[in-house]
Amino acid sequence: MSLMANQFQAINLSQGFPEFDTPAFLKSAIKQVIDEGKNQYCPSAGLPELLQQIGDLVQRCYIKDAARKLDALNTITVTSGATEALMVAIQTLVRPGDEVIVFDPAYDAYEPAVELAGGRCRHIAMNAPDYAIDWSLVKQAINDKTRAIVINSPHNPTGTLLGQSDLLALQQMVLEHELYVISDEVYEHMTFDGQAHESVLAYPELFQRSFVISSFGKTFHCTGWKLGYCVAPEALTTEFRKIHQYVTFCSFTPAQFAVASMLKNHPQHVDELSGFYQQKRDVLVAALADSRFKVLPSKGTYFLLLDYSAISDLDDVAFCHWLTQDIGVAAIPLSPFYQAEILEVYHQKHKVVRLCFAKNDATLLKAAEILCQL
Ligand SMILES: Cc1ncc(COP(=O)(O)O)c(C=O)c1O
Repeated sequence: MSLMANQFQAINLSQGFPEFDTPAFLKSAIKQVIDEGKNQYCPSAGLPELLQQIGDLVQRCYIKDAARKLDALNTITVTSGATEALMVAIQTLVRPGDEVIVFDPAYDAYEPAVELAGGRCRHIAMNAPDYAIDWSLVKQAINDKTRAIVINSPHNPTGTLLGQSDLLALQQMVLEHELYVISDEVYEHMTFDGQAHESVLAYPELFQRSFVISSFGKTFHCTGWKLGYCVAPEALTTEFRKIHQYVTFCSFTPAQFAVASMLKNHPQHVDELSGFYQQKRDVLVAALADSRFKVLPSKGTYFLLLDYSAISDLDDVAFCHWLTQDIGVAAIPLSPFYQAEILEVYHQKHKVVRLCFAKNDATLLKAAEILCQL
C-alpha cells in the first residue's frame, strides 16, 4: 500500500511507521557512538549495558514483587528488530508436525516462521466487533500436537488489549497442557485511557513458559534501526541464543549503545509515549466524527479501524485501492491478516480498514478532511 500511496501521491496512513523524527538525544547519541569508533561486533546476546537497561525497564514496568529480580544478562537477548526475535523464538520451539495457535487478524510474520520450522498454524478468529478472544475456542483447538500460542497485545491491526482475565485464561491452559507462549508486545508502551498493558512478564508462572518480544523501533520512532529484544527464562534463552547466534550473531552495535544511553538518560520517554499517541488518536477520531465511517475503539498501538459499510460495497482490498488511487488516502485492508477459511466468514460480515495515526497532526487532519467528504 505504501508503494501505491507513493505512486498516486496519496496521504499514507497505511504502513505502520512514524512520520515524525527519532528523539534528538537518540540521534546525537548514535552519531557520537559512531564517531567514537564503537563500530565493531558486540556480544551476541547484546551489549551488557543495554541488557541491564532493558532489565531495569522491565522491572520498573511489570515486576511489582520487589523480591522477584530479573537476571537481565541471562534472560534478555537483543535482536535485529522484533521480527528476528519472533523468527528465532518460533525456530527454537516448533518442530515438524507441531501446531501453533494464532489469533486472526494476525500480524503477518508468525505463520511463515511456523511453516519454515515444519509446523502449522491453527487460526482462531477474534470476535468482531470488539476483537476479544473466546478462550473456549482455544480450549477446543488444543490437541496433542499443540506446541505454542502466539499472542499480541496491544494488538496490530485492531488496537485491542488483552486484560487480566485473558492472561489468566492463557496461563491456565499453558500450564495444564505444557504449552509455550510467544508474546508479541511491540506496542507495550502505547495504551490509552488509563488502561495499563498486561505483560506476560507480570505473570511469573506464565513467564516460565514464554518468550516476550518487544521493539525499540516502535518505542523510539526508529523503525529502520531494527532493534528489538526477547525476554525468556534462562533455559529458554539459552536455546534461543543458539539460533540467534547463527542468524545475525549480534545486532547493530552503535544502535545498542545509543538506546542504552537513551533508556538511562531519558526514562520519561517511555512513560510519556501513551499520552503522546493518545493525543494523536483523539485528533484523528475527532476529525472523523462527521464522516460516514464508523470508528472502532483503539485502546492501544498506533492503529485505528474504520468500518466503511455505510460508504461502499467493495471488498476491503478493492476499497483500499479505490481510496488510495481515486480519493488520495492510503489505508490497509484487514483481509490479509486472516486465514482464507476465516476470511470467507469475515468478508461476508465486515468491511473494515486500518489507519495508522503515527503521523503529524496536519497529516491526520488533511486525511480526515478528505475522508469526511465520502
Ligand atoms: C505486531 C508486530 N510485531 C512485530 C513487528 C516487527 O517489529 P520490528 O520492526 O521491530 O521488527 C511489528 C511491526 O510492525 C508489529 O506490528
